[in-house]
Amino acid sequence: MNILVTGGAGYIGSHTIVELLGAGYDIVVMDNYSNSAPSVIDRIRRIMEEEKQTAGAGNQGRIIDVVEGDVCDKAALRRVFENNSISAVIHFAGYKAVGESVEKPLMYYRNNLESTMNVAECMKEFGTEYIIFSSSATVYGMNNRVPFVETMPVSCTNPYGWTKLMSEQILRDMAAGAPDKERPDYRFRPVLLRYFNPVGAHRSGMIGENPKGIPNNLMPYIQQVAAGIREKLTVFGDDYDTPDGTGVRDYIHVTDLAKGHVKALTWALSADDSQWEAACEAASSSGGAAVFNLGTGRGTSVLELVTAFADVNSVPVPYVIGPRRAGDIATCYADASRAKEILGWEAELGIEDMCRDSWRWQRLDF
Ligand code: NAD
Ligand code: UD1
Repeated sequence: MNILVTGGAGYIGSHTIVELLGAGYDIVVMDNYSNSAPSVIDRIRRIMEEEKQTAGAGNQGRIIDVVEGDVCDKAALRRVFENNSISAVIHFAGYKAVGESVEKPLMYYRNNLESTMNVAECMKEFGTEYIIFSSSATVYGMNNRVPFVETMPVSCTNPYGWTKLMSEQILRDMAAGAPDKERPDYRFRPVLLRYFNPVGAHRSGMIGENPKGIPNNLMPYIQQVAAGIREKLTVFGDDYDTPDGTGVRDYIHVTDLAKGHVKALTWALSADDSQWEAACEAASSSGGAAVFNLGTGRGTSVLELVTAFADVNSVPVPYVIGPRRAGDIATCYADASRAKEILGWEAELGIEDMCRDSWRWQRLDF
């Protein structure tokens, strides 16, 4: 079974490919390397080779094609579908920096929406039914009721978030649309995965997140402070209504997140009509799509994360308390029970694993 992974050389895509290969799926990758590099694919191959040595070949899948190309280039994407029989798409390709999206909204709408529409159109043309889409907890907006449940109202506060919400809606509307008269059996089945805060890296230290410039997100910033690349962390506010006054988030190890994609894909491929409909109904706002939060269901504060990182890795992480960052909410964590009930997935790794693996990646980064 060939799975097209768009944006497969990126942070979450690369970890997901490792898990997909481990589960026996064959992979086609399309990435324009706008925020990654071809060497990531070589490293995935090395990880799989090493896993073969230690665990045996098992039923490891293969990387059958790696295409350097822009998903917004419809003709290039069509060729990928033409050359490979694609059973499902996992669509990671997109831009993801909130601040940049405020500065360059059109660039975000163009890339994130055009890529999603091209993928959906090619799927329809070539009869591919399943898509796993990278959405985000950002679609819960300024909601201040935790935990966040899939049935909650959604809204956004920045262009990046809107591209996620609009992409969700495009896929939902396609699933709810009239059946194709010429292919009455064709069903468009989107699974929308709302990620909470992915952190960490592969335990081998060979793949991880590589932010360009000054990191916006907390964990990469902590890593760079610990490595001496930056002098100190600024904690954005300690006067929130949280136990220690700093922001609380649901950090999830990227390997757990990657496994969530394998579970979602395997479930979608095997769900019969009634299972599919039940999953869609369970989230009232979901229309013809199945929606799942991928988080741990546990909140960790900024200071807790800083302390855990310093303790686990025995490195100092100097910090100062600064003002709040505009647009931040106090607390955000998932109700992750739907994914457990329906997909049989739950996060297994804890904050210590996230801190240890992030640091290993930071030190081994080559
Ligand atoms: P990433 O930037 O590391 O990976 C995205 C990949 O897509 C990169 O390899 C990039 O080169 C590629 N890409 C971008 N536009 C492309 C295009 N038009 N054609 C082909 N390739 C293209 O980001 P990530 O952290 O791995 O995120 C993957 C997806 O998950 C994104 O859609 C992101 O919005 C979403 N997401 C990420 C987070 C997070 O915290 N990392 C949280 C929620 C949702
Ligand atoms: C941010 C994005 C979100 C995106 C997510 C990806 C915003 C408003 N939201 O979420 O859309 O999906 O990244 O992981 O940008 N913090 C500090 N100092 C720092 C950096 C962060 O104190 O230098 C704090 C923040 O105030 C927050 C917590 O750390 O309380 C986590 O921040 P971050 O990693 O940026 O994630 P989110 O803001 O949750």
